[in-house]
Amino acid sequence: MTQIELPTGISLIEEPLPAIRIDTSAASGVIYLNGAHVAEWTPAGQRPVLWMSQSSIFEPGKAIRGGVPLVWPWFGAGASNTLSPAHGFARIEEWQLASAQVSADGTASIMLVLEGQSVDASLAPDLPRDYRLEMHVTMGQTLKLQLVVVAGDQPLSFEEGLHTYFAVGDIAKVRVAGLDGAEYDDRLSDSLVVQAGNITFTGETDRIYESDSATGIVDDAWGREIRIEKSGSAQSVVWNPWIAKAAAMPDFGDDEWTQMVCVEAVNVRSKAITLQPNQRHELSQTISVG
Ligand code: BG6
Repeated sequence: MTQIELPTGISLIEEPLPAIRIDTSAASGVIYLNGAHVAEWTPAGQRPVLWMSQSSIFEPGKAIRGGVPLVWPWFGAGASNTLSPAHGFARIEEWQLASAQVSADGTASIMLVLEGQSVDASLAPDLPRDYRLEMHVTMGQTLKLQLVVVAGDQPLSFEEGLHTYFAVGDIAKVRVAGLDGAEYDDRLSDSLVVQAGNITFTGETDRIYESDSATGIVDDAWGREIRIEKSGSAQSVVWNPWIAKAAAMPDFGDDEWTQMVCVEAVNVRSKAITLQPNQRHELSQTISVG
């Protein structure tokens, strides 16, 4: 799978898919090469912070349900509402491990790469092929996720997101702070609304907030707060499928919607990115638990 020499604390696993396992004094975690998908992060002394479905399908070329799927180069079915696969192909492509290090305090730094030339051209006929994607994961007591997009010799336009699933004790006792006053596109009613106060959950929730602010998930059931700082992101998506949508998804357990919430750092629709030749763009989330 790789020629890279791995330091103590980082190993390769093959099942259920090829992945990098991190097990250091600072944290444990798993990153699949399929989609450069961070699937687990447990800082030492804490519960797991990322949610992973027990019903997730682990097959090459299939999206993993939970953790941090990457959204690129389109969100959902794209602005035209006609594109597939959903959320683009970056999350189902096989990425290459480029580097793996562990610092003295047990923080692991992993870099994975996807070269546009290695992606089947039929997946996105309108996209130039000489781009490069880098996923940098810094995993320790905090988790830093950085998706870097580097354009080739032609301009490159795309939507993108870090579609992070967070584990919570009980969605009914969760509030998401940091978006008070932000306008959002309610994807369920297709209307624009202004957020008043914190977000609480009483039904299916699928919203694109216009906000570059940090957010916090206050989880009263588990008595913890997850802090999500971000950069290079003009919007946050907040999603919980609730009962009917969870039941309709084959890779999502019927009762699992009570234990997760997605707070995603994105640039989509009117905030899609266009890079000029050889320019780069970085989208990041930095997650900590208190
Ligand atoms: C969210 C979207 O980002 O992802 C939702 O806003 C969507 O509409 C959800 O249902 C999950 O998408 P998928 O493709 O992983 O099932």
